Amino acid sequence: ASADIGLIGLAVMGSNLALNIAENGYTIAVHNRTASKIDDFVAMAKQQGLDQKVVPEADLVQFIQAVKRPRSIIIMVKAGKPVDEMIEQLLPHLEAGDAILECGNSLYTDSQRRYEYLKSKNIGFLGIGVSGGEEGARHGPSIMVGGPEQQWKNAQPILEAISAKFNGEPCCAYLGEGGAGHFVKMIHNGIEYGDMQMIAETYGVMRDGLGMNPAAAAKVFKDWNQGPLNSYLIEITGYVLEAIEPRTGKPLVELILDKAGQKGTGTWTAIAAQQLAVPATAIEGAVAARSISSRKEERVAAEAAYGKPSAGKADVSLDDLEQALLAGKIVSYAQGFAVLSKASEEFGWNLPLATIAKIWRAGCIIRSRFLDQMSAAYAKGGATNLLMVPDFVTIMQDAHKSLRKIVAAGAIGEFPLICLSASLAYFDSYRQAQGTANLTQGQRDFFGAHGFILTDREGEQHGKWPSTLGK
Ligand code: 6PG
Repeated sequence: ASADIGLIGLAVMGSNLALNIAENGYTIAVHNRTASKIDDFVAMAKQQGLDQKVVPEADLVQFIQAVKRPRSIIIMVKAGKPVDEMIEQLLPHLEAGDAILECGNSLYTDSQRRYEYLKSKNIGFLGIGVSGGEEGARHGPSIMVGGPEQQWKNAQPILEAISAKFNGEPCCAYLGEGGAGHFVKMIHNGIEYGDMQMIAETYGVMRDGLGMNPAAAAKVFKDWNQGPLNSYLIEITGYVLEAIEPRTGKPLVELILDKAGQKGTGTWTAIAAQQLAVPATAIEGAVAARSISSRKEERVAAEAAYGKPSAGKADVSLDDLEQALLAGKIVSYAQGFAVLSKASEEFGWNLPLATIAKIWRAGCIIRSRFLDQMSAAYAKGGATNLLMVPDFVTIMQDAHKSLRKIVAAGAIGEFPLICLSASLAYFDSYRQAQGTANLTQGQRDFFGAHGFILTDREGEQHGKWPSTLGK
């Protein structure tokens, strides 16, 4: 055996990861079900001067034997059934201590199940979240690892070498047993949905509330990218908004159909948050916004029924808009991290929150200056919710006022801010010491004798309610 690691699945992400590994000086065995893809890959590796580091194997058994023991074999096939099928094909040929490193966007419960199944066969299963798209896979993604620690240690040098670096630190970490890596990647994607939706809403305020054209909006995002919102997503927003469609000479963004696609990871985040009873309203709002966007025909009919939104001129400044976006982002990250924290407790993962913020600082889609601030804040420890971390309390004390102005402008001006308003509502609920659930508890006791606690007494109480039956 001559290869340091193996990789199966030479589609875009797999090929780029393999080239990244070869470029970092490791010998990699590659395999693909359709053999012609292997030839294509070898040709690509040759073009980039990396073919010496590649061991192509069209035969699965020879491929496995080409990898040094204990083996680390990356599988990069479509999430779901194809992963289970691949595991079954590999299993008879693996030996105790070998590991399968599954790097797709898999549901964490699937990774947990596969981890337990393979553990019973003395094979390690690492469920690994890889973020950064094609470019990241090739030149340095953010890598979130879950599974058995021993097999992580075997693969650690290679995974760290190929990952993105922030100030020289690898954006790659071991996060916990079982499905921990894929859970963290799922939350990354939920946060990604929130960031993208809030940016889209901000663009909506510029377009519908401030009457700005895409070129003017692009300029604002470019400016914002120099400040506290500095991030990959804000940067690419500037490029997307300034792009011109060559056939027509019109702004490309105005010609793109307003229906957003989604592959499911945002929905998974919202479901997991609900199952763990952690409010994640900003992320839920972002998922809902994509679903509403996809119902174009219904929206067209509803606009005809209710009339075109008045699009009244919004009385807000671009500074307010920037601060509102920052406030919405803080709430959304607070929610995402609260889900991580609860999952960690519930599943016994001991998730390192500061490390997670650290490995998201480069390589991944949500990379930003903000995450550097966040990781530093979490490293100090203590706070359970980002909204209670002193540095962020200071920012929010002002920023929530801007968020309020923008959400009010949206309500009056009749343009939707589903995610920003959800963030504001969460913030207002979170910081309200005296809520209204006292009434809810009264109602629950009225119709179901569910009981309530009185603030000046110990123990559960019941009210003496009049009967409404038959009235
Ligand atoms: C990443 C991305 C990547 C992809 C997601 C979201 O971290 O590199 O999150 O995994 O963009 O699958 O895709 P959808 O928007 O299609 O759900």
